[in-house]
Amino acid sequence: MISSQVRLIKNSIIHKWKTSESIDELTTVKTCAIAARDIKMVYKSGFASFVALKGIDLKIPQGAIQLLMGPSGSGKTTLLSILAGILTPTSGSVHLLGKNITSMSGKELSKFRRERLGFIFQGFNLFPALTAAENVEVALNIKGIKGKPARQQSLELLDKVGLASKANSLPRNLSGGQKQRIAIARALAGNPQLIMADEPTAALDSHTGQVIIELLCQLAKQYGTTVVIVTHDARIKNFADYVTCMEDGLITTNPM
Ligand SMILES: Nc1ncnc2c1ncn2[C@@H]1O[C@H](COP(=O)(O)OP(=O)(O)OP(=O)(O)O)[C@@H](O)[C@H]1O
Ligand SMILES: [Mg+2]
Repeated sequence: MISSQVRLIKNSIIHKWKTSESIDELTTVKTCAIAARDIKMVYKSGFASFVALKGIDLKIPQGAIQLLMGPSGSGKTTLLSILAGILTPTSGSVHLLGKNITSMSGKELSKFRRERLGFIFQGFNLFPALTAAENVEVALNIKGIKGKPARQQSLELLDKVGLASKANSLPRNLSGGQKQRIAIARALAGNPQLIMADEPTAALDSHTGQVIIELLCQLAKQYGTTVVIVTHDARIKNFADYVTCMEDGLITTNPM
């Protein structure tokens, strides 16, 4: 009799603990723009496998500018790609804006990414045969904005990044900094709530890199956009709300 009562009390304590944990979890998911929980990533090729992420927990509040730093090979791009839904983790979950993207179907995820997420790549990723304005227009077209409104918005976006006068130029006739400005305009197309950038300044000289990051952060703050930037550049720290360092697939310092 006593032992069954003890078991009952024990179970009730465990139940309460589990419930309060899931309430905390729910609050996190609802209040954070990005909540990643126990992310593991194992790359497999043939018989070989490599554990790139060993259990990452990361919470990023809405409107924050978050840097991911760490040595080469520490897993930054892998983590960013998982946060952006480009890669599926081996285990763990990612909530973006309160939605669990790890449990979404491919179609749902594409729609979510199209509507909510902008991505800036290291190598600009511009279409070489399209003008600056057309490069931005393509991004707007993908988000369902077409024709005249797309043309108008692409010019407005280029104006925001200080490139209105180059709207009709092809990427090959622009400097690295100007190309990255187009990439920023493209990431801002359709006003996404999240922007992720992998080494956005890597192809730029350090001064241009700083100017570009300052511009990205300024625009993000203006729109209340949450931004995650992977970078090696320690000077970018000045623009960030949080800096997280990674090493060997783990977070070594956490912002929250
Ligand atoms: N497709 C893949 N197959 C196997 N291993 C991979 C693959 N992609 C990445 N890795 C390995 O995972 C680890 C993390 O790679 P990742 O690209 O995430 O690092 P990173 O921190 O972005 O490095 P860098 O600063 O050089 O860009 C590295 O050891 C890398 O070799
Ligand atoms: Mg990388």
